Amino acid sequence: MTAPSENTPANAPAPGNSPLAKTMDNIVALARRRAFIWQSSEIYGGINGFWDYGPMGAALKRNLKDAWRKDIILCPGNGPDGKQLDVVEVDCTIIMNPKVWIASGHAAGFNDPMVDCKETKQRYRADHLSVIYAWDVDPESGDETRADWTFAFVSGDDTSFEKALKKARKRAKQQGSRVIDAPPVLPFTDPEIALTLARVVGPDADIPGTLTEPRNFNLMFETYCGAIQDESSKAWLRPETAQGIFSQFWNITDTCRVRVPFGIAQIGKAFRNEVTPRNFTFRSREFEQMEIEFFITHPDALKPGELTPKDWYEFWYKTRYQWWQDVGLAGENLQLRHHDKDELSHYAKEGAGVCDVEYRFPFTSPGFGELEGIAHRADFDLKAHATACGKGDKMRYFDQARNTRYFPHVIEPSAGADRGTLALLCEAFTPDPSRPSGVYMKFKPRMAPIKAGIFPLVNKDGMPEVAEKLHKELRGKYAIEFDEKQTIGKRYARMDEVGTPYCFTIDGDTLSTQTVTVRERDTLAQERISLDNVSAFLAEKIGE
Ligand code: GAP
Repeated sequence: MTAPSENTPANAPAPGNSPLAKTMDNIVALARRRAFIWQSSEIYGGINGFWDYGPMGAALKRNLKDAWRKDIILCPGNGPDGKQLDVVEVDCTIIMNPKVWIASGHAAGFNDPMVDCKETKQRYRADHLSVIYAWDVDPESGDETRADWTFAFVSGDDTSFEKALKKARKRAKQQGSRVIDAPPVLPFTDPEIALTLARVVGPDADIPGTLTEPRNFNLMFETYCGAIQDESSKAWLRPETAQGIFSQFWNITDTCRVRVPFGIAQIGKAFRNEVTPRNFTFRSREFEQMEIEFFITHPDALKPGELTPKDWYEFWYKTRYQWWQDVGLAGENLQLRHHDKDELSHYAKEGAGVCDVEYRFPFTSPGFGELEGIAHRADFDLKAHATACGKGDKMRYFDQARNTRYFPHVIEPSAGADRGTLALLCEAFTPDPSRPSGVYMKFKPRMAPIKAGIFPLVNKDGMPEVAEKLHKELRGKYAIEFDEKQTIGKRYARMDEVGTPYCFTIDGDTLSTQTVTVRERDTLAQERISLDNVSAFLAEKIGE
């Protein structure tokens, strides 16, 4: 006998329970309802750009970070030289000596050009705005002429675009004209716009000329250390974890048994005062990074035939692209995008390249959003810190094998844990109208917040006792949910919505046959296996 199916009439979907479409609204609603992600300080109305993870979300994000840690630091594979990769871990502070950010260039250059609207007091990122060039059509002659006003909108935001188009049409009507069907669109940063700013109507404004010229706005959060708040006590919350790694490079090489090539990795919080935090957790003001700085021989010290920065760069982007597939983002929603030369920062222009692993989120579709950037940063960072702290070339790394000194080059794979978690949520969301829940979360078992549910079919006849014993046996090894409340259908539905790959049900036959029913999340198949075999079954299926 198997446990009753959730699709028996008693548990059939309620009338009107239509299948859920894979939209961002539905994903956000599930994330909220099933304790994945909530607004930070929600009872006070939240705070823009900050998010809390509930028990399911915290477990999902933890699984992603643990997988990264295991695959990068604890059990890395071999490098392109055929030797096992050597990567050590650090845990640096969020607030560092402000000189770090002066040396790294963040204090002067970590800016977004911002545009303020004097009418509505809204602030926009200049590179996030576009402008509709309203070409009017003369109703008599059909001639097209440029209208006097142009209309700004937030790029990629359909509502904002419609608003701008509506304003353009209204203006044209007032002038006895109409707007052509597909008016041209220009980026706000186009030089033409700067010359005609007085005629641009802001995205939320009614009259033209209220947008300011783009002004730089530093993204680092400021704070003060100590009792007195003045320039001398000013500090910043780190906008990336990388600089902690670079500034501890010398302590690592002095105290740890590492030799180039080797990596230093760190998982930790980073803070950016993003002007337009949006798209759920995608652009947050507080987020977590998983960064590797992988140090390699300076090209000038290489012998013929040795691995070059290009070889290491290619190795790392292929490895990282594969990793995101392994954790569950395989398929057409994942891509690797190589940056064009004109996108590259000054230090990267001469290097082997920069590329991003990108995911097609529902809000970027048909486009993609960045999950991780992989960059050849040459020797820019180590050199900058050595110069800024006054020791310069004395801080060059001594390569014993080559008997020479240099600042190692760096390949940096820098990933976002929150964007990764969001991509896992989006990818896993699988509508299925045949289930009571209408949807299930198809996480890879390694990523699933709960690996298995253990359910006594009913709360009597010795079933709870057997279930509790099994729970005790497994809970130290895996994240296990024990649940004895509600109908079995409702318990399965809840497990589907949090993406639990296996549920074990203890029923009337368990005591006599010493077997349980295993229900498989994706196929809904049920089979009986021996009670003694549950742990081995999970070990084989979860395989961590
Ligand atoms: N050290 C290099 C660096 O920080 P980045 O491209 O600015 O590079 C790396 O950031 C990763 O951090 C991104 O690929 C993204 O996953 C994540 N990230 C950056 N800004 C973010 C934000 N505002 N919210 C969430 N994640 C962010």
